[in-house]
Order: sequence, then C-alpha cells, then structure tokens
Amino acid sequence: MDRRHFFQSLAATAAAAASVAPSALLHASTGASDASKPLFNANPHRTPLRGFQGQDVSCDSALIEGKVPAALRGVFYRNGPGLFERGTQRYEHWFDGDGLVHAWRFTDQGVSHRARFVRTSKFVAEQEANEFLLPAFGSAIKAKAPIRSSDSLNTANTSAILLGDRLLAMWEGGSAYSLDPQTLETRGTVAWSPELKGMPFSAHPKVEADGTFWNFGTMMGKMVLYHLSPKGELLKHAVFDAPTGAMVHDFAVSQRHLIFLLPPINLNRDALRAGKGFAQAMVWNAQESLKVLVVDKADFSKRRVLEMPPYMVFHFGNAWEANNVIKVDFVKSADLGVMNDWMPKMMRGEATQSPSSTPAFLSIDLNRGRISIAERSENLEFPRVDPRFVAQRNRYLYYPVGLNRANGDGELNGLMRLDIDNGKTDTYSFGDNCSLEEHVMVPKPGSTREGEGWLVGVGFDASRQQSFASVFDAQNLSAGPLALARLPYWVPYCFHGHFYAA
Ligand SMILES: [Fe+2]
Repeated sequence: MDRRHFFQSLAATAAAAASVAPSALLHASTGASDASKPLFNANPHRTPLRGFQGQDVSCDSALIEGKVPAALRGVFYRNGPGLFERGTQRYEHWFDGDGLVHAWRFTDQGVSHRARFVRTSKFVAEQEANEFLLPAFGSAIKAKAPIRSSDSLNTANTSAILLGDRLLAMWEGGSAYSLDPQTLETRGTVAWSPELKGMPFSAHPKVEADGTFWNFGTMMGKMVLYHLSPKGELLKHAVFDAPTGAMVHDFAVSQRHLIFLLPPINLNRDALRAGKGFAQAMVWNAQESLKVLVVDKADFSKRRVLEMPPYMVFHFGNAWEANNVIKVDFVKSADLGVMNDWMPKMMRGEATQSPSSTPAFLSIDLNRGRISIAERSENLEFPRVDPRFVAQRNRYLYYPVGLNRANGDGELNGLMRLDIDNGKTDTYSFGDNCSLEEHVMVPKPGSTREGEGWLVGVGFDASRQQSFASVFDAQNLSAGPLALARLPYWVPYCFHGHFYAA
C-alpha cells in the first residue's frame, strides 16, 4: 500500500461526491434558498455556532473574576471550526467549519486571548472568492475548485498541539498544518517524510510524559500509524488495510499498545454519488460488531482484532495495562444520531435534546481474547487525564458534563472529576446559561501526585453573550472556579487543545 493507491481511492470518492452534488441540496435542507428565512436561528444559547466571517480577534486583558493562581502561567492553545457561512450558504455540520486557533496566555499581567484562522489553501481560496468552493464532511457543497488531494479539503479545525518548534493545527483527513506558536501565523502543511506527504494525521495524537508522540490516520479503509520523537522526527510508521472502513476519530495508548475502536460504519458510495455529504453517506450497521484493533507499540506489524457490541465512539480518556489486561475508558453513544441528526439541528440554532453520550470502561483480556465493559450514566464528552499519566495507570478523568439543566437540553453545563477507583465524582454546575467545553488538567509545578493542579478550560455564557476561560482547583471542583477570565466578545466553540506551562 502506498501513497498513490491511498489517494486514488480518496480522489475517486471525493470526485464522486463533488461532481454531482447539487448546490440546491444545501439550499433545500437549510432553507437558504428562501430569502425570508435566516441561515441561523437566533437562539442565544447557540450564538457560538454562528461562527465568524474570517476575521481574527484579540483581547489583551480579559476581565478576571476571582484570582488566577500565581503559579499558573503559560499558554492554552485551542482549535475549532470558526466559519460556517459564506454568501447564501451555511454549513449543515459543526465539523465543517474552517479552523480557528486560539491562544489564551496566562501571564503576570493577566489573561490575554488571540484567535486566528488557519490559512489553509481552502480558507484562502474561499475567503478570496467569498463563497464555498470545496465539498465538506457534512454538507453537500458543489466543488468549484480542483480537488488535488485530501488537503484540498483540509480545514485544520480540530485540535492544536505543540511539537518541537511547531504549533500543529490538526484535522483528521489530511496533513497537520504548522503554525508559529507566538503569532499563530500559518507556515504550511507538514510532511513527516516524503513518503508520507499528504497522508491523514488525526487530531488526537497521544503524548506520553517523556514526550513520546503517537498518532494515526484513516481514510477510505486505509490506516496509517505514526511514532514521532518529542521534537517531531518520524521514528517509525506503518500503512495497512483497516479492519473496517469506519470513521476513526481518536484512539488510546497504554504502556505497550495502541488501541482503536472501529464502530460498524460503512460508507454508502451511492449516496455520495447522489449528492450527500460524507457524514450523511455513513451507514450504521447495528447488526455488526465494533472491531477492537490492538497494535504493538514496539512493532506496528503485530496487530490483533477483537470484537465487542456496536457503539459509536468519538473520544478516549486514557488506557493502561497490567497482567496482559488493557483498561480503556471512552465515551460511547448509541449510533450516528449525535452526528447526523442532532448536529445539523444544532447548526440551525435549534435547542434540541442531544442523544446521550456516557462513560464506558473496557477490560481487554489479551490472554483470553475477551472484552468486558462497564458503564456509567452521566451525559458528558471530551474526557481528559492528567498529562503525566498518559499511557500509565490513572485514577482520575475530567469531563464537561450535563448537570440538571432546567430546560433539559442536555447541554454540557458543568464539570466533573471521576475517581475510577471508587466511582466517586466531584462536580460543579454553571447553571442554565453556560455551556462548558473541554477542560484540561494542568499539573501544579513541582507536584508529582496525579490530579494535583488545575482544571483549565473554556465556556460560553449565554446571558452575557461572552466567552470565558475558567480555572478550577482540580482536586476540588465543587468549590467552584478559582478564576474566570471573561472576554468582551464570544468566540466559536472549539473542539480540543493543550496547555503549556511557561
Ligand atoms: Fe475529537
């Protein structure tokens, strides 16, 4: 399997989707062809999904409520889809927006914020044309520009991570983009080797405490694995046929293994040819199993596939192993409903109940070839772990969670720490007017104990129509935030990011 064959299959499908996708489909499903209907319902709780028009923003000094701990200094990078509309067209899917990278800087002078769009080739061309020119993951956009590779469609919109002297803005279907960590200016796509140029690089790399960096990519039934040094040098890689053609968004790493859960999703190529977006062409096969791919970190050719009941999976917290039993936590949902039903409604500004996504815990017994699963019932997403314990035995997980919201819309309005040893939780609710995004655990300088540090993340306050950064004592969430750093504006929701201590 080589790059040429990899891209042949991609190009054939992308071309099929693009060549016949009628732009009227987008108009019909969004109502955009009816000038009397807005592209976006002005629901104040959904404001961040309006998106920006391509402008960069900054604030030198956020309004601080409470007190930012003196030892919490550094930069918090985030990334997410930031632009959803051009002219009379609006994306139908949250995943489609162009990447907007944020830097929240915690200094002795306070907290500043800057957000800058990644100048992908797609963004630059569409900004110039003031219209969408290229197909998107979840919206049927007619191609008006050539699709030369998957990077022609790359939005670089899913996460931001430092690797060596590069800030990477990552998508999952193509290359990572390299940005200047200080200015957020776009340098260009990254090729880990000439052979791997343009290959997919997921937005969920796993970085161990010593900087060892693991990642993967999937596209059209193929899979690529990466092992990189802390400086970003390619140490080894592998390209092979995936056990299924499923969308794989994230993975987990234990001391000795890479673990992938491949949900039972097939791509309906007829639907693509009929003009559907990639998301709408995905078919959930409830009668099929979820394939569990376990890869030896030391030798990527040592791969094993096990099976378990079908769930939809986006995110993992962590994995670790003992006595040849791998423990993996993840967030599960029933099927593609959250992606293909709820997200388009959300993108229209509707306040609809999201399908639940709940914590799940796997034990993969490699000796017996058996998998057991334990579950909890909280509605949550975006799990994170103390970064010092990636691929090691961990006790705590941190999530944004839905807590007793009055309108019952399932919005993630609180935070939760879960102690997986005893099942106890520590929670804080922001009430009915706030949405909470991913929060990352930031270790306290000089500490070694898991969980000792701060939980730092971002949220949106609908009553003020402003975004904020929040800082909690990670060992006492229920005490409420130590500090909120409020911006004088709102910003689009992000997906993921990382904090780097000064
Ligand atoms: Fe993600």
